[in-house]
Amino acid sequence: MTGQRQFLFGLLSTAFFIAALMFPYEIAGARSDHDEKSIGAAFHEQTSLNWMGVLGDLVGAKPRKPPKYKRIGGEKMIKLPKPEHHGISLEEAIQKRRSLRNFSSKPLSLAELSQLLFAAQGITGKIYGTPLRTAPSAGALYPFEIYPVVNNVQGIPRGVYHYVIGEHGLELIKEGDFRKKISSAGLSQDMLGEASVTFVMSAIFARTTSKYGERGYRYVYIEAGHISQNIALEAVSLGLGSVTVGAFIDKQINSLIEVDGDKEATIYLHAVGKP
Ligand SMILES: Cc1cc2nc3c(=O)[nH]c(=O)nc-3n(C[C@H](O)[C@H](O)[C@H](O)COP(=O)(O)O)c2cc1C
Repeated sequence: MTGQRQFLFGLLSTAFFIAALMFPYEIAGARSDHDEKSIGAAFHEQTSLNWMGVLGDLVGAKPRKPPKYKRIGGEKMIKLPKPEHHGISLEEAIQKRRSLRNFSSKPLSLAELSQLLFAAQGITGKIYGTPLRTAPSAGALYPFEIYPVVNNVQGIPRGVYHYVIGEHGLELIKEGDFRKKISSAGLSQDMLGEASVTFVMSAIFARTTSKYGERGYRYVYIEAGHISQNIALEAVSLGLGSVTVGAFIDKQINSLIEVDGDKEATIYLHAVGKP
């Protein structure tokens, strides 16, 4: 950078810093408490339940229910090894869990990936013929899909995959090295590219809103936490480390996993690797 450019850059950065201090809400694109309700507050209010709303919801228009299981099709499915790991006690895993952001370059085995996916959304039982999963879900409607972005897993090439929950398998969306793409989409958080695998968790909203209306959005966000905690504790049990990531450019991650960001959108990322 030339001296003149450097000076201009410094001047602009200082001006931005001062403006951010003086007008934080305006800079962030949010509204202050003194103005009309913020988007977050309006969302909370409009998805609050009251008896009128509950009754209205019974008759109100709702989206059509999409299929419970998604298949990308095309490529041959990779059957995952049976999840049969028996690790440390749950209490020990809870005690040990800590976010890890520095991963080594040691690969994950396919069995470890299998175990993590099973912990996230594996099928563990049935009620009246409906398969139930490891994490709770409002109305057992299971809005989540999981897309492992594989960097370093033994036996499978780098690429973006989709977890086929019903068959405990993986289907390949696209092969390739997406390390740069995923970390830059995650606001340059390098660990997303350095992890052996980053799980992109997306939701098909209408699976839940077809029953619960607007309130269903809340349920979806809550469920992301259930799933992610299962992954975090399973990672600890396997001697791995993980970190959850909520800061990402939505459009970029949605395009990476090839979803529209409207009917199906990324909610959360979870990077896992060896310490
Ligand atoms: C909703 C949510 C979003 C998060 N987003 C990020 C993130 O974008 N980057 C990151 O490094 N950590 C992220 N974290 C991890 C937190 O920073 C971390 O859990 C916190 O510092 C507590 O540390 P611990 O997990 O080691 O107990 C997120 C956690 C949650 C629950």
